[in-house]
Amino acid sequence: MSQKNIMEYETVDIDINTKELLIIDQTKLPGTTEILRLSTAKEIWDAIYLLQVRGAPAIGVSAAFGIYILATQIKADDFDTFYAEFAKQRDYLDSSRPTAVNLSWALKRMDAVCVANKDKYRDELLDILLKEALAIKEEDTWVCKMIGEYGLELVKPGDGILTHCNAGQLATSKYGTATAPIYLGQERGYNFRVFADETRPLLQGARLTAYELHSSGVDVTVICDNMSAMVMKNGWVNAVFVGCDRVAANGDTANKIGTSVVATVAKRYNVPFYVCAPTSTIDMSLESGDLIPIEERKAEEVTEMWYKERMAPEGVKVFNPAFDVTDNDLIAGIITEFGVARAPYNESLKEIFKKKEDATK
Ligand code: MRU
Repeated sequence: MSQKNIMEYETVDIDINTKELLIIDQTKLPGTTEILRLSTAKEIWDAIYLLQVRGAPAIGVSAAFGIYILATQIKADDFDTFYAEFAKQRDYLDSSRPTAVNLSWALKRMDAVCVANKDKYRDELLDILLKEALAIKEEDTWVCKMIGEYGLELVKPGDGILTHCNAGQLATSKYGTATAPIYLGQERGYNFRVFADETRPLLQGARLTAYELHSSGVDVTVICDNMSAMVMKNGWVNAVFVGCDRVAANGDTANKIGTSVVATVAKRYNVPFYVCAPTSTIDMSLESGDLIPIEERKAEEVTEMWYKERMAPEGVKVFNPAFDVTDNDLIAGIITEFGVARAPYNESLKEIFKKKEDATK
């Protein structure tokens, strides 16, 4: 029996007939590919919190579909009653994870569309909300493709590329962000050699990035997180591409825990460290990375998960932040769908948003 390649699945989708959110349960990959069908607020909240769907853009798309699905369940004839319930569900979904700004970005966008169409009949309003959610997903594919094009200009055939966590297709609608230059390069015969950090404690690098890239025929090698210095010192890495969950106005970047270690090591060995950032992940309202909320997760992820037996003493203290902030001076460039921003980021990111504004006029 031929098995479908993981790259042929939609990371996030909607069944518009049954009004269900469809996601691949990423906690079961790479062993099992299971599609979850979700329709209640609690199911959608849990899926985001438990990382069944994860990665900043994929969380944003899930939230957009999610709030539409929940809106279809609201029984109210007048807008004020409808909107009171809509806002309640919006805030509930928004509380599922704090760091990736795409979650609130997508929900705000859906909210704005809802309010702007308050005079429409319920069915028409729901159609408009669905259109907006579908647009968020479709735009994400275009955004990733453009990040891939700009990223590809920064590397050459045969290069070694290191990446951390999973900023791949499984974290987006298509192509991924950090993996987009790799996939485009693959199509164009670049023959990259990729190093995927396993990414403790949840192993997104080993389970997801390595799976995606390997399934796509990319030359990928999994390394433990504490091996990145060695491969860089050996001269095997020409560039680092990572994704991000929130970029502050000064370029400080929150991404999966361990990213700032990679950036620090990259600086030491003169390897350019690039952040691949859709503009939906850039939060110009925050002056610096110090203001980015960092999610802390359960101790069991560190002490028990993946192990046959608990590997740390009972009762020991555990610190388990899911993200860290890479200081902007360690970043060689922030690759967006509107070009590559370079230091000083306070200015270059503003220019990126100016380009975005001009493009949407
Ligand atoms: O906790 P996760 O798996 O959601 O963390 C994901 C990351 O840190 C990714 O690098 C980031 O969201 C960018 S995905 C294009």
